[in-house]
Amino acid sequence: MVLNRGLFITFEGIDGSGKTLQLKLLTADLEKADLKYLLLREPGGTSISEQIRKILLDRKNKEMSAETELLLFAAARAQLVKQIVEPALAAKTIVISDRFFDSTTVYQGYGRGMNVDFVHRLNNFATQGLQPDLTFYFDISVETALDRLKNRTEKADRIDLESQIFMEKTRLGYLQIAEENPNRVRIIDAERAPEEIYKDLKLQFEQAVNLMKCR
Ligand SMILES: Nc1ncnc2c1ncn2[C@@H]1O[C@H](COP(=O)(O)OP(=O)(O)O)[C@@H](O)[C@H]1O
Ligand SMILES: [Mg+2]
Repeated sequence: MVLNRGLFITFEGIDGSGKTLQLKLLTADLEKADLKYLLLREPGGTSISEQIRKILLDRKNKEMSAETELLLFAAARAQLVKQIVEPALAAKTIVISDRFFDSTTVYQGYGRGMNVDFVHRLNNFATQGLQPDLTFYFDISVETALDRLKNRTEKADRIDLESQIFMEKTRLGYLQIAEENPNRVRIIDAERAPEEIYKDLKLQFEQAVNLMKCR
C-alpha cells in the first residue's frame, strides 16, 4: 500500500525510555501491513553522517567542545535530510527516525546550556525547514530510565556517561518542546509495560496514516 504523500515520524526520549523496543514493534506491524517505510537512526544514515557519528560517539574524543558537538550533529542531519529523507518523502514513503532535531535541542540546548533559540535556528537551517509530521516523545523518569539501562548489555558510549542532572535537564527540555508544539508532539507515558505503550502508539500512528490517505 502506498500513501498519498510521505509521512515523517520521529521517536524522541532520553536513553532507556524504550524508543528502540517500540520501533521494533511498530516496524514489525508495518511489514505485516505491507506499508512502505524507511527506518533511520540519528546521527547516521548516510556514509558522511555515519563517519560523523563515529567522531561524536568515540569515547576518546574527550576534548570535544559543546560548539563542535552541536555543529557535528547538525552536519550529520543536514546530509541525512538532503540525501535520504527528502527523496524518500517525495517517493511517498513513511520515514521513521530514531531521534531527530528535538534531540539536539534538548541535549545541546537544554542539557549543555547552549542558546536554545540559536539551536532552533541551526536545526531549521540544517533541515532546510523540514519538520516531522508527528513526533512520539517517550516520557519517563530519569530513575526508571537508569534502572532499565543497568540491565542493557551494550557498552556505554560517550554520551551515556553523562550525569543524572544532565538527564533531568534533557527530560525537562523534551517536556518544554512538547508544550510548545502540541500539534506535532505526542507525549507517550513510557513508564508503563511495553504492550500498553505500544497500544497507545499504534492507535496514534494509525490515525496519522489515515489522515495521509484522505489527503
Ligand atoms: N516499557 C518497558 N518496560 C520495561 N523495560 C523496558 C520497556 N521498554 C524498554 N525496556 C527495556 O529497557 C531498556 C532500554 O530500552 P530501549 O528500547 O533500548 O530504549 P532507548 O532506545 O530509548 O534507549 C532495554 O533493555 C529494553 O528492553
Ligand atoms: Mg535506542
